Amino acid sequence: MTSFIERYHVPEQHFWVRGSRSGPPVEYDAGTGLWSVYGYPELREALNDPVTFSSDTMRVVPKEMLPESEDFSLSGFLTQIDPPEHTKLRKLVSSAFTRKVVADLEPRIADLTHELLDAARERGGHLELVTDLAYPLPVTVIAELLGVPSSDRDLFRQWANALFERDTQVSLNKSTEEQRQDLQAALTPLKEMTDYLGTHAAERRRQPRADLLTRLVEAEVDGERLPDRQVVNFAMILLLAGHVTTTMLLGNTVLCLDAFPEQQARARADRASIPAVIEESLRFLTPFAAVTRATTREVELGGETIPADRLVMLWLGAANRDPRQFSDPDVFAPGRDPNPHLGFGHGIHFCLGAPLARLEGRVALNILLDRYDPLRTDPDDPVAFIPTPTMTGVRHLPLR
Ligand code: HEM
Repeated sequence: MTSFIERYHVPEQHFWVRGSRSGPPVEYDAGTGLWSVYGYPELREALNDPVTFSSDTMRVVPKEMLPESEDFSLSGFLTQIDPPEHTKLRKLVSSAFTRKVVADLEPRIADLTHELLDAARERGGHLELVTDLAYPLPVTVIAELLGVPSSDRDLFRQWANALFERDTQVSLNKSTEEQRQDLQAALTPLKEMTDYLGTHAAERRRQPRADLLTRLVEAEVDGERLPDRQVVNFAMILLLAGHVTTTMLLGNTVLCLDAFPEQQARARADRASIPAVIEESLRFLTPFAAVTRATTREVELGGETIPADRLVMLWLGAANRDPRQFSDPDVFAPGRDPNPHLGFGHGIHFCLGAPLARLEGRVALNILLDRYDPLRTDPDDPVAFIPTPTMTGVRHLPLR
């Protein structure tokens, strides 16, 4: 592991990449005021109990810190709501965002991958995987799917960076002013995205098209349709979750195949093993390294008693390296079977976009292996990780 960390300059805050933890599976950190869960069985236990571990984390944020703005509404924000509202909304959006809708995208994903790699070759010089492929591919796919112009992707990137790229840890012990400023900083991009998607959704109500926004506007379960605000908030999750994480997955997978050349040779020779490579990449360098929950009651977990109304960080990345679940967790071994990693979460909030992320990963990696032999990073131009503690991904990955 030491060589991986040194070779790729893995930041200090990505502790789970730096080898399995030796500490307890559940811990309170007085510095941040947060509880953290690192162990695999403990994490599954929490994710299997959404009544105790609620996704409505705003309920524990003191009211005086919440913005008093009409622009701030988490209605329809699937990741932030609990049953029964979650169950109903998930059913509704799943009826529009189906497996068939995703599977039909395969030829377009392949064409786009070739187009992007051709464009990079025409520009000359080396391939910078993130700028040339891993960023533009998923954002274009999700924009085309939703029906918003993919030429606006710089705008989407600005919003995503403003919301996600932080090098500081979440903490409840910051001053009220600091917390308010953090929330305010998130409010501006949220407001801009709401207006942008609201305009597009309103247009689809007037003039339906063959796109996902239209399907969402028209989706109906038990005679009920989605209110505008919920269409916009769900589209917002798709636009953000639909590209940021998949960008990380593509970069991380190439990094893994660079670090473990024998696995690259194996994947090259046996393309049927690519899906297993993607799954192991999700375990080994978990893009969405932590999810947050709020306790609704006092609860025992991993030998600790977590009081009610506490914020709990569930470290998917650390659980994916728990030696009680995965033998030799710090080795990238796509042959693991089964590989029950938690990279897409677990339970009722399991990632709705997992089929799309897996498809994009498989198609793009196959084409990269076809066109680049070997796929190698450039030792003279170092890899750079995103500093955000809860996200594992590279933002600069130059290839030789
Ligand atoms: C939920 C990871 C790609 C849409 C989640 C969750 C994780 C996750 C860990 C659970 C959140 C929680 O429990 O609080 C990832 C990773 C991806 C990826 C690692 C890529 C490698 C995508 C894509 C889309 C998407 C491509 C859509 C196009 C969603 C949605 C949810 C979700 C809508 C919320 C589900 C719910 O709350 O019921 N994702 N995701 N994700 N993801 Fe993904």
